[in-house]
Formats: sequence, structure tokens, C-alpha cells
Amino acid sequence: MCGIVGIVGHNAVAPLIVDALKRLEYRGYDSAGVATVEQGTLGRRRAEGKLVNLERLLGAEPLAGTIGIGHTRWATHGVPNETNAHPHFSNGVAVVHNGIVENFATLRDELIADGYVFTSQTDTEVVAHLVARELARGVAPVEAAHATLKRLEGAFALAIMFEGDENLIVGARSGPPLAVGHGEGEMFLGSDAIALAPFTNSITYLEDGDWAVIRRGGAEIFDLSGKRMERKRQTSLGTVFMVDKGNRRHFMEKEIHEQPEVISHTLAHYLDFTTDGLKPLDLPFDFKTLERLAISACGTAYLSGLVGKYWFERLARLPVDIDIASEFRYREMPISKNSAAFFISQSGETADTLASLHYCRSQGVPIGAIVNVRESTIARESDVVLPTLAGPEIGVASTKAFTCQLAVLASLAVRAGVARGTISREREKELVHQLSETPRFANQVLKLEGQIETLARDLSRYNHVLYLGRDTNFPLAMEGALKLKEISYIHAEGYAAGELKHGPIALIDENMPVIVIAPHDRIFEKTVSNMQEVAARGGKIILITDQKGASQVSLKTYETIVLPDVPEIITPMIYALPIQMLAYHTAVFMGTDVDQPRNLAKSVTVE
Ligand code: G6P
Repeated sequence: MCGIVGIVGHNAVAPLIVDALKRLEYRGYDSAGVATVEQGTLGRRRAEGKLVNLERLLGAEPLAGTIGIGHTRWATHGVPNETNAHPHFSNGVAVVHNGIVENFATLRDELIADGYVFTSQTDTEVVAHLVARELARGVAPVEAAHATLKRLEGAFALAIMFEGDENLIVGARSGPPLAVGHGEGEMFLGSDAIALAPFTNSITYLEDGDWAVIRRGGAEIFDLSGKRMERKRQTSLGTVFMVDKGNRRHFMEKEIHEQPEVISHTLAHYLDFTTDGLKPLDLPFDFKTLERLAISACGTAYLSGLVGKYWFERLARLPVDIDIASEFRYREMPISKNSAAFFISQSGETADTLASLHYCRSQGVPIGAIVNVRESTIARESDVVLPTLAGPEIGVASTKAFTCQLAVLASLAVRAGVARGTISREREKELVHQLSETPRFANQVLKLEGQIETLARDLSRYNHVLYLGRDTNFPLAMEGALKLKEISYIHAEGYAAGELKHGPIALIDENMPVIVIAPHDRIFEKTVSNMQEVAARGGKIILITDQKGASQVSLKTYETIVLPDVPEIITPMIYALPIQMLAYHTAVFMGTDVDQPRNLAKSVTVE
């Protein structure tokens, strides 16, 4: 994934680059580095681990220079150590890279045969050597970069800088995003506009296949054939302020507690609570005549889509195909004419989700993007942006973006039902009113944190946890397991409760807590039967239910978390909260890095 920055400025750029990298750390935090050209000479500082290590190094060994490039890494090729940290150098060329050079092995063999010595295990180093080889052949820097780009296959965003030239950075985009920032006699490059927000809000987004020559006086943009391209400049909405934790220990904790407010903002974008109706929405298709809806996403966003499937099918009788984007992009699904496709993504930059969007685009399907970052690539490439109003989400494990995605999907499912005549005006009013109550109930549930924290202390002693749920609580069971494993590193699985007998029941013993998500709904009794099966085998049951459910279960649980009785349509948003809090507090007890768990990144811009 990685985040890249480049500045051709007036003052010492190293501290500015570090500032920009802080805003990109969500893209990876395995190592970081910065390089500058000062008095014609390249210099660099690199450090393994999080950005603070690089900052410390720069404090001890500052780097002068008014031109520079920087990088924060999520390792793809090569372990996350200092030698593999970017920028990579070769004979006066410095390169930072986000993405994967897929033909790097062939290029590497070719370069080794030509006498080039590799000092890292990265794919990026081939880029530095290729440019250097062109220079050695007498080719000028810009042309050397262009010739190199023509040799690269894969997905990449690059910034290339040259020893001896203090007024030139070449940027290139093939896949991952890259933004050019325009300043007053200074210019910037960054993986996103937010990284550049302290310097400028005047942004040109490179399009796929573009490359740019950046000098203090401005940017020239070209396509791969070398043809000059005109790309419009726009004003970014990116905020200059670094989001802080307030008085919370972690961003995740803060983001969990923001949910009543951000769910409320999101719902209010789609629903009119004065009339208990729908706000106008301009869609590139008509729900009334739609035959199928395809939804595709990754990680937590995929699980919100899975909840959405239940809603669209039940409330609007609209069949939904839901896929993990990395599968969808290659499975060549036949898409009928009267279909639409939704892509769900917090960041709006996830590579597989974007590739799925491209597939649907090639099939001529109208495209909607449910995204949190409105200036993201997925948003920009869609026919309609259906925003989640969660605000910046910093914790790598998604919380508020998930419940806001659910809020959008629920609102859209009601809209689809109204359009298709499966929801009467009376029912519409009732559902909208019920949705409007989500923030109030969410606030009540957050008050259960004390009980959940105590339970988390116990949970942190186990190595495996099973989550069970039916209907919309099945995706929630998977989300609960995902949250727990990604931040506490405890192995967890989420299963449809009815599948218990088909395998996972073999795992049940006193060392495997089973978390059952079961509000008192039409199939509550079925889930109770599954709990009996677990209890009969000595399993420890942690039941998350409502008051009605708790009063009807005779079986002895290890712990019961009792939520308020809530309308069925809002249960996924409400039941998401205890599973998030449980994962959060378990991770805190385990002492892991909650906001930046090992091996993960917030935005996955490689396949
Ligand atoms: C990463 C994040 C997850 C997120 C997923 C999809 O794996 O760690 O929290 O759900 O990517 O990201 P997106 O930005 O597309 O929602």
C-alpha cells in the first residue's frame, strides 16, 4: 500500500514531508524514509517501524534541502527493515513507490546481467536502476523516467528525484492514486489530498496512466505515449487539522463513541425526519425497474454489504449478488442489462474494489459508491456517490465507517422498497421513524461499556473464540470475529448459527468461548437451539441479546449482555457496538497496538 510524498519547495522540506507522511500513515507503518537533494547531492534517512522512529532519526541527524520525497511503507516485497525502506537509490536517482511492479523479477535479472547491484529485496529498486541506466546511456532525466515507466507492469504510484537537479520530481500513476498540489512557486505530490492539506488545497488528480513533471513553476502532465494531457485543477475539501484522540486512549475508542452522532448525520443525509420520508436522491438507475443489484467490497465494508443484501431482498424484493471484491474482479460475472452495482469502501481506494468497479464499468452498469472519503478514486469514478458521513476514521479496524455504511444501506433499501411498491407510505413512515431512533439506542448501548470491559478481561485469556448469528446477525458474527482477530490477534471465526452442526461444533469445549448474537426476532428460538447444542458440549456461551431475549432463555450462560429491545431494521447498527467494544477492550488487555495492529493497513491499495 504505502504513502508517498514529494515537495519542490522554498524551505527545508524534510520536516514538511514528515508532516505529510503522518497523514498517510494509515496506508502502512512498517518503515518510513525521506530523501532530499542539497547542494546537488542526494541524502536520505530511513527507519524501520513507525514514523516516530524516522522523526527521531531526523532530530538527531537532520536533512537539509528544499526538494525531497518521502515514504511510509506497508511491506509487499521484502521484510520491513531499514534496507528495504524507501527511498531507494541508484547512481543519483531516488525513488519512492506505492504498489507492486509485477514484472520486477524479469527486470531485476536483466539489470543484474547488466552489472547493477541490488541492495534491497524490494521490487521498487528496479525502478531506480532502470532510470539510472537510462541516465548512464546519456538520456536526460525526464526522458529517462518516461522510458522506465514504459517498462513497468503492475500497479504503482511513483515519485522520482535526481541528484544535481533541485527543481524536478517526476510523478507517475498506474493504479494507486496520486495528487499534484499547486502552491505559490512550490509544488507537491502526495498519495492523497489530505496529505497535502497543510500546504495547498489546489489539487490536480492524476488519471490512470498519467505521469507528471513537477517543477517549482508548475506541473506538466503526460500520458504513457508522451502526449501532453490537460487535467483540471480542483479545490480539495481536505482538512488541515490532524484529527486527534480527544481525551480517549485510542482513535478506535473515540471512533466507537462517535457512532451515535455520525450515524445520525449519515441517516439525515438520506432521510427526512420531519416527514418520516425520503430525501430526494438523483440515482443513475431506477430502483423500480432494477432486476438485480451487485454489491462488492472488502473486509468490514463487505460485511456491511452482506447485511445490505438481507435488507434489499426482504424490504424491496430486489435480488442482490454480494461478493468479496478480490473474487468479483476475476470471476467474470455475467451482468444483465437492468442491473446496478454498488461498491462500498471507507477509503474509496481499495485496489480490489476499484478493479471490480472497472469490471462493471466495462459492462455498462450504472455505478454507485458508498464511500467515506468523498474525493477518493472510487468516488470520482462512480456515477453517484452515496456518502457515509463518518468523518475521518483513523483506527485501522473500522468501526464508525461500518455502522454508517449500514445506515446508508438501510436508507437505500427503504428507498428501493418504496420505489418497487413493496413498502407502503405507512410502512415507510414507520421504518424511517425507527431508523431515526438508532442514535438514541446506540447511546444506551455504549453505557454497557463497563460490563463489556470486565468480560473482555476474561476473553483475553483464550486463544480461540467462535461467533454465531443468524440472518443479519450472521454478517455481524463475522464482523465480531474480524474485529477481535485483527486487533487482539486472538483467533476468531464467525459462523451462521445454523452451520454449527456442519463443522465448528467439533471445536466446542471449555476453552472456546462462543459469542452468540441473538436479538429476540422471528428465528430467536432457532438460535436458542444452537446454544443448547453448545451448552450440552461444555461450551461457554456469551449471549448478546435484548430484554425480551434474555427473559426467555432458561439456559445458563457464562455472561449475558442485555441490550434494549430495538426495531428489527436497526439491530445490525446497535449490535455492532458491543462486539466492537468487546474487541477493543480485549485488545487493550492484551496490550496490542490497537490503532495500528501488526501487518495491517487502513487502506489496501494493492491486490
Ligand atoms: C482494510 C482495513 C479494513 C477495511 C478494508 C476495506 O483491510 O483494515 O478495516 O474494512 O481494508 O477498506 P475500505 O477502505 O475499502 O473500506
